[in-house]
Amino acid sequence: MTLLIKGGEIITAKERKRADVLIEGERIAAIGTDLAAPLDAEVIDATGKLVFPGFIDPHVHIHLPFMATFAKDTHATASRAALVGGTTAYIEMVCPSRGEDALAGYELWKQKAEGNSACDYAFHMAVTRWNEKTEAQLREIVRDGTASFKIFLSYKDFFGVTDEEMFHTLKLAAELGVITTAHCENAELVGQLQQELLAAGKIGPEWHEPSRPEFVEAEGTTRFATFLEATGAAGYVVHLSCRPALEAALAAKARRVRLWIESVLPHFLLDKTYSEREGVEGMKYVMSPPLRNKKNHPALWHSLEAGSIDTVGTDHCPFDVEQKALGADAFTQIPNGIPGLEDRVNLMWTYGVKRGRLSERRFVEALSTQPAKLFGLYPRKGAIDVGADADIVVYDPEYRGTISATTQLTNNDYNGFEGWKIEGRPAVVTVRGKVQVLDGKFVGEQGRGQMLKRKPQYFRSDEHGS
Ligand code: URP
Ligand code: ZN
Ligand code: ZN
Repeated sequence: MTLLIKGGEIITAKERKRADVLIEGERIAAIGTDLAAPLDAEVIDATGKLVFPGFIDPHVHIHLPFMATFAKDTHATASRAALVGGTTAYIEMVCPSRGEDALAGYELWKQKAEGNSACDYAFHMAVTRWNEKTEAQLREIVRDGTASFKIFLSYKDFFGVTDEEMFHTLKLAAELGVITTAHCENAELVGQLQQELLAAGKIGPEWHEPSRPEFVEAEGTTRFATFLEATGAAGYVVHLSCRPALEAALAAKARRVRLWIESVLPHFLLDKTYSEREGVEGMKYVMSPPLRNKKNHPALWHSLEAGSIDTVGTDHCPFDVEQKALGADAFTQIPNGIPGLEDRVNLMWTYGVKRGRLSERRFVEALSTQPAKLFGLYPRKGAIDVGADADIVVYDPEYRGTISATTQLTNNDYNGFEGWKIEGRPAVVTVRGKVQVLDGKFVGEQGRGQMLKRKPQYFRSDEHGS
């Protein structure tokens, strides 16, 4: 299959230029002005459109047994949602619980994805307990191409690790050259504060944020950074939500700890007043770390534009209204999470780039190129270069639309951004040279997605912007 994307404006993390892109098979074969179309080529007219490298979501949950239920998506639904929103690859968290075998969990997560995803995917392997067997299994999992770990400093007794387990995990990560991603909240403080609030009759979703205050996240971030320093491992804070945690992470970066920062879509655009809404309306917005006071937003946007927040993911984790209502009698029972995979690109474009908070260059870097670099996918992904995978988003900046659960492909009965306007959307999306989305509709091949096997990365600070 030969495709020629003609007349578009290419925007990458490096540059903006008008050029055509020739795709032969699964790869980009040529980039240049006025490229002639080979006889067998399908020509995509990109006049007036922007041409981006496929966007990569570094933090999603698809199969997730959590809080007495399961997140709603499958790889079939999530990948179609990702693609119509311009995301051509995602990294899913493999999250066996503490009681489960790591390798059995890994095989299960792989099996759920295989043959079902319409876009490419990779995994972060969660380490939820530590012993000799786990260590041997983690070595095997890294050899299999899953070259990043995940640890939770929260969710005590379920996914959470002790400090001792974190230490051993990071020692292994440092030895293997594997980056470790971390959910940074102090589990003990959260548990104690939750019990105090419930005992005082404070049971609604508006008490979720006070049970995990900003200092609880700052402490988790500081502790993670300290353990990175002690072990020499490379780390990545996931879904950072507030200024105190940001300051903790930036202080660690300033003293050359090898630490990178992810924030996620909800924390740039939503605030805690959403989770203070009455009943299930508030429960829809319960996630961890929680939505914060709006006063945190400027710091997040400025750091994103400056490049000290490195990436933007989603922490996509859909639970429907019935599942959210499991927490009607106690906020501690509300399944934590919100969807976002389908909307990240359009919302960050509209409320970041179009509102002047984010440059086009940083937009591409944070949502595509930097996740690819950090997680061993670059330059195959995250770039428009000859030889790279032909994952391309031809973006229509003139499109105007409104987000709604009634039209989304995500398998959920609500959307946290219901009614939000978008000013642009993908017109054409390709995955390794195949058109998977046309005019906002999935038109492709369901099983096209492949697992992206990755080699351990040895991080060099000059390359990754710390
Ligand atoms: O609330 C959240 N974030 N749910 C998903 C699990 C996690 O902590 O990432
Ligand atoms: Zn988390
Ligand atoms: Zn998550």
